[in-house]
Formats: sequence, C-alpha cells, structure tokens
Amino acid sequence: MSVIGEIKERIDIVELVSNYVSLQKAGRNFRALCPFHVEKHPSFFVFPERQSWRCFGACNTGGDVFSFLMKKEGIDFGQTLRFLAEKTGVSLVLEKDQGEVERGKEARLFEINEIAAEYYHHLLMTASEANSVRKYLKQRGLLPQTIKNFQLGFSLDEWEALLRYLTSKGYSFEELLMAGLVIEKEGGGGYDRFRNRLMFPIRNIQGRLAGFGARALDDSVPKYLNSPQTPVFDKSSIVYGIDRAKVAIWQRNSVVIVEGYMDVLIAHQHGCENVVASMGTSLTEKQFGVLKRLTKNLFLALDADTAGEEATLRSIEVAGQTLDKKVVPVPIWSGLIKYENILDADIRIIILPPGKDPDEVIREDISLWQDLVDKALPVVDFVMNAIISRVNVEQARDKSAAWSKLKPLISEIKDPIRQSHYLQKLARLLKMNERVLASDLRSSYAKKRRSRITGETEESLAVVPSLPSSSPLEEYCLTLLLQYPEFRAISGELRPEYFQHTENRELFVKWQQGVELTSFEANLDAPLREHADRLLNRVLPATLTQREEERWYVLNDCSLRLQERWLRNLEAEREEILLLETEKSDATAQLAKLEEQGIDVSLRLKEIFSQRDINAKQRRARG
Ligand code: UTP
Ligand code: MN
Repeated sequence: MSVIGEIKERIDIVELVSNYVSLQKAGRNFRALCPFHVEKHPSFFVFPERQSWRCFGACNTGGDVFSFLMKKEGIDFGQTLRFLAEKTGVSLVLEKDQGEVERGKEARLFEINEIAAEYYHHLLMTASEANSVRKYLKQRGLLPQTIKNFQLGFSLDEWEALLRYLTSKGYSFEELLMAGLVIEKEGGGGYDRFRNRLMFPIRNIQGRLAGFGARALDDSVPKYLNSPQTPVFDKSSIVYGIDRAKVAIWQRNSVVIVEGYMDVLIAHQHGCENVVASMGTSLTEKQFGVLKRLTKNLFLALDADTAGEEATLRSIEVAGQTLDKKVVPVPIWSGLIKYENILDADIRIIILPPGKDPDEVIREDISLWQDLVDKALPVVDFVMNAIISRVNVEQARDKSAAWSKLKPLISEIKDPIRQSHYLQKLARLLKMNERVLASDLRSSYAKKRRSRITGETEESLAVVPSLPSSSPLEEYCLTLLLQYPEFRAISGELRPEYFQHTENRELFVKWQQGVELTSFEANLDAPLREHADRLLNRVLPATLTQREEERWYVLNDCSLRLQERWLRNLEAEREEILLLETEKSDATAQLAKLEEQGIDVSLRLKEIFSQRDINAKQRRARG
C-alpha cells in the first residue's frame, strides 16, 4: 500500500473533522455548519464510509482528509503529508530514499541473494555433483534457455558450502542469517539452510532477488523449502515469476495464476508469459494487490480435485462468517466475489484435467491448455454449475439445498445487472420461478439491514464498499498525460476533483501547474515522486505509442469517464442527503438550493454518453 493509503487507513475523517467543527449525526453520516463559509443551515457533510466530506452550500466542494486539512489550515500537500505522517506514525522514508543505514541493510540482503543465486546457478551448470540434476531438468522438458532465464541453481549436499563461500566474499554471519540463507546452531556457528536442492530464485516485481524456493531432489521433506520471512522476503506478497511476467500481463491484459514453480517455467517456455505462481498457498490480499495494478482479468488454475471437492463447495456456506479480510482463501468463492467487487475484476477458473499440473498439460498439448484458458468460466458460473451438477433438480429438497448454498454467493454480487443475470440463469437451471428467488434474496437483505440497525451480528455483514486502493482509470489517464507533454493543451477538460485518489489528484495538480517534466520529479514529495516514477515508467500498448490520434481518442475517453464517475458520486451523495432532508423542515429550501447551484446531473450524463459514442465512432472510422 502506498504511504498515502496507509495514512488514510489510520486516520478517521470524522475524528479529524470534529477537531474543527461540531458534527451532528445524520443517518449514517454527519453534518455541520460549513467550516469554510458562513451559513445558517448546515450544508457540510462527512461520509464515514467513503471517508470523504462535501459542502453542498456556497463552497460546493469536497474531498478527503488531505484536502480538508489543506483547505482548513491553508497548508500545501507536502506539509499536510508530513503532519499526517507524524500523527499516524507512518514513515515517509521510501526504499530508494533510505539513508545509509537502511540501504546498508536491505540492499545488502538483495545483494547477498544475488551472489548466492549466481553461485547456485554456476554449480548447476558446471559442477559434476549436479550431473543428475541437469539430466532431471532435461527429462522434465526444460530448455537450457529457460534454466538460464530463471537462473535455476543447485545447492551442494554439504553443510557449509554457501556459508564458506559468502563469508569469503566478505559477508558477515549475521547478514547471512538475516538473509535466511543459513541457520544458527545452538552453541554458536551455523549451517546452510538449502542443501542438495534445486534452487528457484524468487524475484519481486522490480526484479530484485528477495528469496529462494528449493525443491528436494530425493525424498526429503518438505518437498519444497522456502526462504523464511526476511526484511526483503514477504511470502504473503510475492508472486513467483512476476518479474518476467509483468510486461506480458500488462500487454495481454490478463494474468494466469498457477500453483507451482515448475508450472511457471514450462508455461513461459511455451510462450505463455503471463503466468505466475501463488507458490502453493491461498492467494492473499497483498498478492492480489500486486497483480491488480497490471490487470483486472485474473485466471486461477485449480486442479480438478480441489475445485470439485465437497468441502470446497461447502465452504461457501461459512464464508460469510469466517472470511478473514486479510487472506482470500482460494477457493473460497465468496472471497473471490468480494475481490471482483472491490477491484472491479473478472476472475475466472481454469479447471485442470484430473491429476494434472499445468506443467504436464502444457507440455503434452499446448492447444488443450489454450482451450482450457479460453473456456475458463467466471467464478460464479463455475460454482453454480458445480453445485447444480450434484443435485437432482426434480427434487424439492435438492433445489432448496442448492439455493441455500448459492444464495450467499449471489447476494455478494454488487452489480445489479450481473446479479440479475445470475438469478435468471439459476432459476432456469433449478427450474424455478425467478421471482421467488429474487424475493427470498431481498428478504435476507432486509434481515441483514435490520441486524445492522439493531447492532446484532455486526461481524457477518458484507464488506462496506470502500474506495479501492488504486484506480486504473485515473492512473491510465495520468500515465498518458505524464508521458505525452503535448496533452497539456487539452487538459482544460480535466479537473482535479475528478481524481478520487489523493496521490493522483496531487500529481495532476502539479502537472497542471506546468511543472516541467525534468524538474517535475525533483519537486515532488517522496511518496508522490515514487508514484510519478511508476506512471512514467509504465509500458503503454504499441497502438498508443505509435499513433498520436489513438492517444487523443483514448485520453478524451478517459477524461469523459472520469467526469462521469465524478458526477455519479456527486449524485449518490446528494441522494443520501435528500433522503435525510425530506424529514426536515428546511428540506424544500435545501432542495431548491441544490438545484440552483448544482449541475443538471442527468442531462450532463446523457451528454457524456453521446460524446463517448461519437468519440468511439470517429475512432473506428479512422481505423
Ligand atoms: P507441487 O507439489 O504441485 O510442486 O506444489 P510442483 O511445483 O508442481 O513441483 P513438481 O512438478 O513436483 O516438480 C506446488 C507449489 O507449492 C509450493 C511450491 O511453491 C510448489 O511449487 N510448495 C509445495 C511448498 O511451498 N512447499 C511444499 O512442501 C510443497
Ligand atoms: Mn508439478
């Protein structure tokens, strides 16, 4: 998570704002006399769920904790950032800005890993002790180029081989310990963690060597031994192969997630370069976080047994209560649906033939693999089919059992159109009347709402929709602006408030102020600079880099979509207020006032649609 995201997680807008004005509860929200202008009727609102504020009165502005403080205290973004960082205890020091001490620690660990990987790789390629390993790799279908690309290695069947080697290179015992490469003995000294194993270097998304996976070459257990948690290796956030897959993921706009190291190697060797591995564990929120920056289209390869197991399918029933917000157990379907909601993602399930790894499927028949990917079902369809195939839909009892298993899943789908699509489909499959299902779904929603009001079973509630931690649309738009200076000419269409994410908004403002690209980065606060860096280095599709016209169309479209989103949010906030206001005496006055200063939202939305339509038509016409 970005520094700014972390600060926002730790601070509550209600608490912060209440230091300045006295807030009154208004339904789920809070209201007050606007702190930014003089007024008699309170038109200033704070929305805890969205962690945002808005004045519907004379100011007609809004924002987040950052913009509130900037406006209220009259300070700039950098000052606000430092103030909030201090208040929340978030460190502003970034990896690349870290002082000598920090650099001397993490960079040193990366460096040690790098040297160890070279050492292991050299052994694998040349040592006589590795003869049988080379044969084994050949027999598993790995080409020399793949072994080289992924820098596979071999650790000798000795206790201190690496320890001696690295010590001779000037690294201290403590450093090797910290890198997880050696294990400390009781009573002093230590020995190599990895012995007689096939070594897989694991790199992070920046390509830095974070740790190792090591496969036993005999019957040793465990079959795979991984580096322990170290300052540079966090197993819960690393995805194996991401360094070599990221460009393909971005270009193909999809990622395939498999379980094993070997699966990734074979996939890449056969040209499937958007494949990464979760390394045998459930996908975690952090791993999702890494992937979602590159694409929203995720394919999960599951073996037939796990995917079809009764226990897996049953897990839907308890998911509502047990879903840990931090870990997304795959396959706990309901967890995946929550991810689809939050990330606006499309998650599909690839079912492998019984008893086969992707590695075997790809080697035996690449076209079968391609077929499995092409035919992968969206997670909801998959679960629906799996459950229904196990029941006899002619039997009332079975119908009801299938419905009660699927109901929680369907109720998780936030998009009403998708939800109704699945209700229709399910009604058809279960040979039931769709209205019966819909009304049952509604009544369980109502129950949930009641329990929310009475405060019962707070835990089992669906996740409150929060702002996703990044916005692909905003980032795409900014990437274009940053990489193509000529866009300054049309940036007038865009407004800072269209960008919901603080870092994006701030970057846009700076860019709009005409800060030169070369000095741009130097003039930014550290977290912003890192963000700008990321966007500046993004690889854009060839259709965009090669064709100026295409870029203009795409930017124009982004700009319209951002505006559309902003208007919709505005409308949603306004609706909430109006709902409240109808109970009050000054409701009519407020309504009139909103109308008076507000934009006619629905009219403007219609205009946006037709503009986007024209845009798309022109774009097609030009080919
Ligand atoms: P597999 O047992 O399927 O291994 O575990 P594999 O990668 O297919 O290896 P081959 O084909 O037998 O050579 C899948 C993944 O689970 C993790 C590893 O990341 C492995 O690649 N794993 C497995 C462990 O971390 N520890 C273990 O003991 C086993
Ligand atoms: Mn395997």
